[in-house]
Amino acid sequence: MSGKSFYLETFGCQMNAHDSEKVIGTLEQQGYRQVESEEEADLLLYNTCSIRDKAEQKVFNRLNDYKRLARAGKRFGVIGCVAQQEGEKIFERAPYVSLVAGSASYRRLPELIERLEAGETRVTGLDDRQTEETFETEFTARKNPYRAYITIIEGCDKFCAYCVVPYTRGKERSRSSESVVEEARRIAGMGYTEIQLLGQNVNSYRDPIGKKSFAELLTAVAEVDGIRRVRFTTSHPRDFTRDIVEAIDAVPTLCDHVHLPVQSGSTRVLRQMAREYSREWYLERIAWMKAAKRRISISTDLIVGFPGETTAEFEETVTLLDEVQYDAVFAFKYSSRPNTPSLVMIDSIPEAEKSKRLQILLDRQREIQRLNYENHLGEKMEVMVEGYNPAREQVIGRSSQNKPVNFSWPHPIAPAPGSYQWVRVTRAFPNSLVGEAVTGEALTGQATAGMAAV
Ligand code: SAH
Ligand code: SF4
Ligand code: F3S
Repeated sequence: MSGKSFYLETFGCQMNAHDSEKVIGTLEQQGYRQVESEEEADLLLYNTCSIRDKAEQKVFNRLNDYKRLARAGKRFGVIGCVAQQEGEKIFERAPYVSLVAGSASYRRLPELIERLEAGETRVTGLDDRQTEETFETEFTARKNPYRAYITIIEGCDKFCAYCVVPYTRGKERSRSSESVVEEARRIAGMGYTEIQLLGQNVNSYRDPIGKKSFAELLTAVAEVDGIRRVRFTTSHPRDFTRDIVEAIDAVPTLCDHVHLPVQSGSTRVLRQMAREYSREWYLERIAWMKAAKRRISISTDLIVGFPGETTAEFEETVTLLDEVQYDAVFAFKYSSRPNTPSLVMIDSIPEAEKSKRLQILLDRQREIQRLNYENHLGEKMEVMVEGYNPAREQVIGRSSQNKPVNFSWPHPIAPAPGSYQWVRVTRAFPNSLVGEAVTGEALTGQATAGMAAV
């Protein structure tokens, strides 16, 4: 076995998690082996996120914590969104770092690693918005035992006023529907039954060979033999079309869950955010989903305390929660980010007021979710197993609507991640359901290749 080893830590969104799978696969191809601790590794990589809260400072603190390892001859690399954003400044602040690369340059990773091995001390992969290329996925090391990710669109061209992503991930570029479906078939062949299609804005998907719309691509992936669940994230309300709802209605393997970030319930704030839609436009898309034949679970992201957000405008976000009745909400306090248009706006809402608004939203949403989840009491649902909690003697899983479902398991060996079990819901909490395995209904689905039962 080769002596070269690497340690990789990942922060941020699912796209970063999946990028890490691509980076791992590429490094393994070059003779590296992944290890679990910084101390053991020759190469330490941090796949960073820059979305909010002084993210770059956190990365520098983390590097500082492990600075002593540089003396042991180890090399450090900063990759991902903070790498692209801070660029060569990272070498100045942390001179023991010898690789800085953003996600748009990972297709050149083999060459970057070779230069590192040849002794170069300042290797950069900092492709900005110029690139048209996507990352080839033949080396992807799939590390998630039950869910396979496929990036269908990289980058973002939306330029929402508060957001770093267009600067850290470059311009929008879609993979061809043919290569996506081919990858889905390969993944199914490996034993995976759940696929999640990824992109910062999947609704902007444009098949470069000009054939399939996003809804058609969803359907094509959901119809691949062996695939039982297809998820997709993130949808942008501006480009969210009705045929997506029709596809969910028509194709049972498309999960009955849509994550549709709204950010604010106030049309004025949305305009300031450059989101390109109004409250009414957003609610119209929600109405399409509520009118569907299947009950579609809806979740969202919200920002409180955007510059200039008045109390009355914040209240509009609270009333939006009441109107939509989301099943999950991810709410964040606004923080100003480098390069973004909102940087010039005065971050006018005091921290304490942002915290207060956040708490009001979370309290209201908790109440909504409590009732939403209680509606499932007594229901029988198919759950995909994700793991086992020995302390509670419960199997951990998820419903098609993406709700966590934990259930008691009467047998000595827990079911494998990636298998399916029918469960009757006996208790409901605001964030999870509890149930019991329905006996007499055999466990179905095949466990993922090479995966041990937990
Ligand atoms: N592409 C997705 C969002 C990606 S970022 C979309 O368009 O909705 C994930 C979430 O982080 C965003 O939905 C937003 O709610 C939050 N976020 C992004 N930038 C932020 C900032 N500067 N301050 C606070 N929250 C932010
Ligand atoms: Fe950021 Fe807006 Fe793009 Fe989402 S759509 S990644 S919030 S710029
Ligand atoms: Fe973070 Fe980059 Fe994702 S900033 S949220 S890792 S796109």
